[in-house]
Amino acid sequence: MLKRKVLAVIVGAFVIVTLGIGCGTSKPANNGGKEAPIIVKFSHVTTADSPKGKSADKFKQLAEQKTNGKVKVEVYPSSQLYGDKEELEAVQAGNVHIIAPSVTKLVGMNPQFQYVDLPFLFPTKEAVYKFWETEENKKLMNSLDKFNLRGLAMWPNGFKQFTANKRPLVTPEDFKGLKFRTQAGKVLDAQFKALGAGSATIAFGETYAALQQGTVDGQENTFNNIDTQKYQEVQKYLTVTNHGRIDYMIIVNKTFWDKLPEDIRKALDEAMVEATKYAVQQADELDQKSMENLKKGGKMQFTEFTTEQLAVFQKTMESVYSQFESVIGKDIIDAAKKASKK
Ligand code: LMR
Repeated sequence: MLKRKVLAVIVGAFVIVTLGIGCGTSKPANNGGKEAPIIVKFSHVTTADSPKGKSADKFKQLAEQKTNGKVKVEVYPSSQLYGDKEELEAVQAGNVHIIAPSVTKLVGMNPQFQYVDLPFLFPTKEAVYKFWETEENKKLMNSLDKFNLRGLAMWPNGFKQFTANKRPLVTPEDFKGLKFRTQAGKVLDAQFKALGAGSATIAFGETYAALQQGTVDGQENTFNNIDTQKYQEVQKYLTVTNHGRIDYMIIVNKTFWDKLPEDIRKALDEAMVEATKYAVQQADELDQKSMENLKKGGKMQFTEFTTEQLAVFQKTMESVYSQFESVIGKDIIDAAKKASKK
């Protein structure tokens, strides 16, 4: 009987220690009189020279500086540690502490995040930034609480463009019979369906190979993702539409965050505010730079539209709104539209 009790205590202690380590909140080990730093693992899927990659590195630099080295941030770019789906599981389990998925990829936790994929919802990046300040977006961020996650900030990437390798996409008819890679969710499937095309969800880290092998004929992404993922090697045609956004929610494991000493959390909060300003500036610069790179590279044929040509696409894709208004919520759509008014 006593033996069993002793065993139960040992097992219990082991579980507590293991869980503590899992969330990275174990007491720092004593390291020759110096406390070992708190390790913050930040995992993401784009390259280190993308806006997200550079801003994650900026956060690292600021966080380490502001905590006088009490925190060490380890940044893992390019799906090195985890791909799209795995990083969401890993941050909940506390195996990484911070991730920065594109908003769409949170659809499994809250389908309302698919607002970001409604075709032509935001006319400008300023409208997007304004929407991020609304109560509706704050509610969206808070909706992650029940998954033991906290939304810390929003970082931009840019507007999406279509690419394909079979033919230039000049009218909606050109989409018929082609298959496109999507990030996640049903709104994007519906968008391609409205254009007469098929779609398949493929992890970002596997998209180049899927395009190369012809598993899909095309995809949609920002200039910078197209450029840094080298899709120009496997896609011949790019159509400039700016029909949707890729932006990120910076998410932290809540248990880990809440257990940090208050001064550390405050310093990390400040680092995140500064890194976010940098992210906005980087997204702007790199969007332009990548567009120029792609044009100069000469591997992709660009199609650019007149307002009238673009309006044809807007009309064709409009049906997605009525299909998803009840899923996404009229309040969110209205707030986005209001933010889009000059
Ligand atoms: C994608 O999957 O295309 C993007 O969300 C990747 C990213 O993180 O920008």
